[in-house]
Amino acid sequence: MYKRKFLSAVFAASLSLAGANGQPVRNIFTIHANQVKAEVKPTMWGVFFEDINMGADGGIYAELVKNRSFEFYKPLMGWTVVPRQVPEGTVVVQNRRESNAANPRYLHISLVNAARGSVGITNEGFRGMGIKKGMKYDFSVMYRVPGTDVKLHAELVNPKGEKIGSATLNLPGNTGTWKKQRISFEATTTEQKAKLSIWFEGNGGVDLDMVSLFPQDTWKNRPGGMRADMVQLLADMKPGFIRFPGGCIVEGHDLATRYQWKKTVGPVEDRQLIVNRWNTEFAHKPAPDYFQSFGLGFFEYFQIAEDIGAEPLPILNCGMACQFNTAEVVPMDELQPYVQDALDLVEFANGDVKTKWGKIRADMGHPAPFNLKMMGIGNENWGPQYVERLKIFTKAIKDKYPFMQLVNSSGTDPNGDRFDYLNGELRKMNADIIDEHYYRRPEWFLQNASRYDNYPRTGSKIFAGEYAAQSDRTVSVNNKNNWQTALSEAAFMTGLERNADVVAMASYAPLFAHAEGWQWTPDLIWVDNLRSYGTPDYQVQKLFSLYKGTDVIAMLQNNEVVAGKDGLYGSAVIDKKTKEIIVKIVNSSDKPQEASFAFEGVSKLAPKATVTTIASRDLEQLNSFDNPLAVSPSDKQAEVKNKKIGLVISPYSFSVVRVKML
Ligand code: AHR
Repeated sequence: MYKRKFLSAVFAASLSLAGANGQPVRNIFTIHANQVKAEVKPTMWGVFFEDINMGADGGIYAELVKNRSFEFYKPLMGWTVVPRQVPEGTVVVQNRRESNAANPRYLHISLVNAARGSVGITNEGFRGMGIKKGMKYDFSVMYRVPGTDVKLHAELVNPKGEKIGSATLNLPGNTGTWKKQRISFEATTTEQKAKLSIWFEGNGGVDLDMVSLFPQDTWKNRPGGMRADMVQLLADMKPGFIRFPGGCIVEGHDLATRYQWKKTVGPVEDRQLIVNRWNTEFAHKPAPDYFQSFGLGFFEYFQIAEDIGAEPLPILNCGMACQFNTAEVVPMDELQPYVQDALDLVEFANGDVKTKWGKIRADMGHPAPFNLKMMGIGNENWGPQYVERLKIFTKAIKDKYPFMQLVNSSGTDPNGDRFDYLNGELRKMNADIIDEHYYRRPEWFLQNASRYDNYPRTGSKIFAGEYAAQSDRTVSVNNKNNWQTALSEAAFMTGLERNADVVAMASYAPLFAHAEGWQWTPDLIWVDNLRSYGTPDYQVQKLFSLYKGTDVIAMLQNNEVVAGKDGLYGSAVIDKKTKEIIVKIVNSSDKPQEASFAFEGVSKLAPKATVTTIASRDLEQLNSFDNPLAVSPSDKQAEVKNKKIGLVISPYSFSVVRVKML
């Protein structure tokens, strides 16, 4: 570990070609502002969303009640009947599969002179419920009351059983059909681990379904919406695209549990819940209570994308289940419904409100199209069975929607037989975009910073669709989002940026993890029931995205790209809108390095540059709930003299240098 006494921040010095000690500056970088190498598309840096690690239910989807519709494999998972010894048959799970296949179960509770303490149900939330003092909460329930009126009391309680907010609903009797009521109330205390207790007054009985509790401070204050802090962290990155819904969740453990977007739109009570494929994936992190309610469904994904100015990138099942699990494939003569799902998705996103799927979008509150321009077919699928199916999808989609850009899988790894086979086949097919994934050690990221310098410049583009440096090994529970992982990703990303003519898009994966509900680490953003923070990796992603520029320009050292010599990695862009030159420089070594940045092909530069730096002497440094910005950027000014900037680049640092062209 680095223990020397160097200042951690980059500091500017008035260097030309001589360093502070009079010695020649070793690193002279020439930035050729007039040598445009490639356009940086607005979609270059994006985010990858998957419902893993309680990313959706228990995470960004702000519902606080777990198993609100009693559809988990164990219908009362997450619920406790109180008191435990109610007479046999008082609380019964009923199933109306014949009349409601999407949401068959509900709870029937018999009431005999019911009063506080006689019969009730308590929901534990997703690892508890995060409640904020003074915040308003919306409680809602679907119900039927066959007999006389019933009073329903909803109470938030803290771990000591003390009431921290409550509301009462009068449920009128003789309700033959299902009705919905909602009521709002304020919480009196902040609590990480609250529960929701429901008890009744009355006689006869009550049927309950869709028991729900949401905070009102959701993103854009949408009722039943998303956690504002989590969406804000995404919005702050200004991502160019959002990939959804994954990830392996697209594939499912088997075909029955694949992601089917059509079952995720329309009224939430009609969205058929299924198991989350990460539920029992890892013996080291079982999550038997992990299901997909689809409260965050395809409409909401499109809406988030629009809200944060990102292009939507849905990934669809290609007729294959996860090849690490069942590896089921649909026979070729039964592939058509899968292809139709893809075609119908374009209609859902873009179609006129008079079309079948366009109308559903309009009925959900968005008559304007979402302007879907790209979609992925298959996640980490491989082998000839993938290529065979992909060809059918590609023809059908391109025939009907020739403008649609298709993302294709190159499997799970960035090299090896599977990759080579797919890479060859996809290029023969003239695939639009090939999705490459790399979950590798930090050293791999450093060593592969020039991976794309030698890629073919024509033909298929690359989507670095999932990547993350692993401080331990892939899927190890010991993986940490430390500064070393983030720094190595920054080095690698300079190579992506430099080759923006080849690499069209990139996204770190996975995105979110709940501190008590995760299965996979590392992850970009960590949350608990009330708080959230970006990791050092997040800070790196954000800087690349915020300062993506519009065009790649040449940055050379001795006529070579800056890709690892002395631990230095660099790339440069111009931003035609802000009229800036933006240089990114990573020092992965444990030594400060004097550098001179000489700008050519530009007539005049502003006298000061802004240098934004993330640095830490400790490669194992983490961010945390208590110290969320331990590794985060800080700004300094640097002098620009004779179109040169002299800097001493701190050990273990990533800097973005911005200078205006006058
Ligand atoms: O990002 C986590 C998982 O890693 C994704 O679901 C899958 O595509 C990859 O194997």
